[in-house]
Amino acid sequence: MEPSAAACAAEIDRKGYTVIEHYISPEQLELGRAFINQQAASHDHEYFAIHGIEALGGSLIAGLALSQPFKETLTELYRLQTGREPAATEQIFPVIRCLQGRSGLKQSHFYHFDATAVTALLPLYIPTEGEHCGDLIIFPSVRRIRFNALRNVIEKAVLHNTASQKLVAFAVRRGWLKPIRLKLEPGNLYLFSGYRSLHANDECDPALLRATALFHFGNPHHDSLVARHLLGTNKRKAKLDHNGLKPVN
Ligand SMILES: [Fe+2]
Repeated sequence: MEPSAAACAAEIDRKGYTVIEHYISPEQLELGRAFINQQAASHDHEYFAIHGIEALGGSLIAGLALSQPFKETLTELYRLQTGREPAATEQIFPVIRCLQGRSGLKQSHFYHFDATAVTALLPLYIPTEGEHCGDLIIFPSVRRIRFNALRNVIEKAVLHNTASQKLVAFAVRRGWLKPIRLKLEPGNLYLFSGYRSLHANDECDPALLRATALFHFGNPHHDSLVARHLLGTNKRKAKLDHNGLKPVN
């Protein structure tokens, strides 16, 4: 049985993350993998990401992003973590990331905060050979949820610049910093606060594929013009609106 949102929120507060094992069935995992295989074939064994429900149209991942029970769980987690209601128009924003090739290495140890409060990660392909298998690396609760959009922008500017990202990556590789390292199991669902936690993935062998689906929910700055203009880079890059649905002209 699935744990309650309250139990998940308590565990995220205590440990920095929670896991729902076997969140999808083996058949659903195969469907998700078939979609990845189809996409990977057209990306020449190099890194790619697909953003938003429309771009993922018809896939298992788009279906999950549109699932009402899943949205209710993420909504409840948002309420418990922030003490507020999400925007009435808020949708789950799905992203697929596929690490492979040399370009996949460049996307590893890329430490950041998400724009949204709740992040769910569903691994589809995770390498099992070699020293590095693309673990999820989390520094939990590095900061509080800010409802002051400008302060959030300043914090992100400080922590998201290349020098600080490289410094964190260097310190993690050297073992000077000891973040949480999660060995990911395909089919499990990993929940954490992407907004509060500095996070990234460990590298993996460029010859192997690491494919994950991410579900972002609950922008604490949904009513802020500052946030809308300065954050949500992924959505802007993918030319999507705030909810990741309609292409923006
Ligand atoms: Fe993230």
